[in-house]
Amino acid sequence: MAFYSDDLIEEVISQNDIVEVISEYVHLKKSGRNFMGLCPFHRERTPSFCVSMDKQIFKCFGCSQGGNVITFIMKIENLEFYDALEFLAERAHIDLSKYEIKTFNTKYNESKKDFKETLYKMYKDIAIYYHNNLMELLKEKSNHVKDYIIKRKFDMKTLKRFAIGYANGKIPLYDYLINLGYKKEDILKSDVVVQNEKGKIYDRYFSRLMFPILDVKDKIIAFGGRVLDNSLPKYINSPENDIYHKGKTLYAMNLARKEKLDSIIIVEGYMDAIALQKSGVTNAVASLGTALTENQARLIKKYTDNVIIGYDQDGAGQEATLRGLDILVAKNLNVKVLVLDKKDVKDPDEYINKYGVERFRNCVKNAISLVEFKISKLEKDLDVNNVDTKIKFLTGVADILAKIDNNIEREIYIEKVSNKYKIATGPILKEVERKIKSSMSKNDDLVIDTQMLNRKMRLVTNMKKRQEQYIIALLLSKDKEIIKEIFDKIKLEDIENKEVKKVYSFLIDLSKTNDLSKIDVITKIHDEELMKEITDIMYIDISQTDRKKLLTDVLKNKMKERLYLRRDEILKRTSENISKDEMEILQLELNQIIVELSKLK
Ligand code: CTP
Ligand code: MN
Repeated sequence: MAFYSDDLIEEVISQNDIVEVISEYVHLKKSGRNFMGLCPFHRERTPSFCVSMDKQIFKCFGCSQGGNVITFIMKIENLEFYDALEFLAERAHIDLSKYEIKTFNTKYNESKKDFKETLYKMYKDIAIYYHNNLMELLKEKSNHVKDYIIKRKFDMKTLKRFAIGYANGKIPLYDYLINLGYKKEDILKSDVVVQNEKGKIYDRYFSRLMFPILDVKDKIIAFGGRVLDNSLPKYINSPENDIYHKGKTLYAMNLARKEKLDSIIIVEGYMDAIALQKSGVTNAVASLGTALTENQARLIKKYTDNVIIGYDQDGAGQEATLRGLDILVAKNLNVKVLVLDKKDVKDPDEYINKYGVERFRNCVKNAISLVEFKISKLEKDLDVNNVDTKIKFLTGVADILAKIDNNIEREIYIEKVSNKYKIATGPILKEVERKIKSSMSKNDDLVIDTQMLNRKMRLVTNMKKRQEQYIIALLLSKDKEIIKEIFDKIKLEDIENKEVKKVYSFLIDLSKTNDLSKIDVITKIHDEELMKEITDIMYIDISQTDRKKLLTDVLKNKMKERLYLRRDEILKRTSENISKDEMEILQLELNQIIVELSKLK
């Protein structure tokens, strides 16, 4: 595990806006200065989960969990502190190696890391091997591999750029790798060879065009191999291992990310991504056939907010588009769908090879919105010429339109649908309104009941505790003078409330080694109870208050409390049977207390 400096922690926090990060997991709605949503950490039907943009913290007033952006990632991704930190650093493209203080590797991690490094190196050597094979074949006058390369319109630059190769098994890969000095056990752990029961080792890929898959750091992490004819399976891909996680990878993302990205076009296959990149559409990446995953959406979100789905035009591709849309929208990405304006081609690869890149770019420009896509899909699934289905279509459309939040946007679509399908706006509008009403009465989960929330917040605390919480709130205000004055004047014993006392004690300790005006206190907390209390306190809004005055007031109150306490003690003592001397001294003290109390009023 590596250890990082406070500077880095600050940097990571400041580069990862908490509202943005949490929006990737929770549907948030703005409410005053905060954002509200359904708590991801407990089941609830009305939102009590509150994210503060100003304070960069979150708090659930239902289950009282809270913290900053690192805490959130720890909880939701189930990560240890440093892993969450690295997760967020990566999200913000912060180079961690610059900040690393020391690395204490356990033996296990060391060997795992070593194996990963070996695998990266081995995969690179393998890619070179396949690539050289292909280059050799292309030098020959003619062969079926060369024919295929020509048929698919690969040029030399593209073959090199994508390190495309051919697996012909001229030399068994195993021998080749042993010759390069790799150990048998490492070679067997890679996926490029397979061993049968008798112990014989074979090449896994044979007679296939080889596509290395690179991660965003340009390291080869897997391979895909395509047959040159119609035999099955069409592709064989690397299984997942220590370095390859299919659902977290996008093919050609390493190239796309090097460009200034306004948007990303996601296509299905290797061939599509390559064809687009070859033609200068440098923002094309491929999800490699599987349904898009949340992790892939998250990867995209690191680079851009705008995505165009360019899946195959067939039924399967369109179903995959629909699923992909939902995943991308859930990550707050703006999604459009590419429609190829020629129906005799099935995918971007075929389109661009047949109709050229200019025309393709035009399709990208005309990509349709989520709503339009859903409507046109509905139209394709139904036969709109018949009366029955037309009614079905209309209700389906109303369903889609009713989900649009923005009134103006909804109006525009109603207009569009009316024009396109020759249905008067009146009936559509009526149907949409009916849907909206019925969904509202069903309970709109995100109607925020501010009053109830305030009640919940108020219930958490009573007035006396509140006074002590102010002290902590002031300590967290990062004002050097205020911090000093509080530590000077308020002793741990002065705090009565158990939870606040725990926080105060923690802050006293922390201040011995840290400057509270500079550090992010939350990252120093590793105790659940402490975190709950401190995030409660952070939600007490003192931003509009004169802090100096608040400090004077709380100090005054504390002083008064102390004096009253002492006064009561004295009164109790004087009512007992005590010596004359003691009585005199106590009388004197009591007088003093009365004077001081009157001064404080
Ligand atoms: N795929 C796969 N295994 C298969 C078929 C497909 O892993 N048996 C993945 C590959 O990543 C492929 C993607 O799904 O790139 C899309 O499939 P398809 O459209 O059939 O492949 P293309 O890459 O478009 O190849 P081609 O144009 O040569 O048909
Ligand atoms: Mn294809």
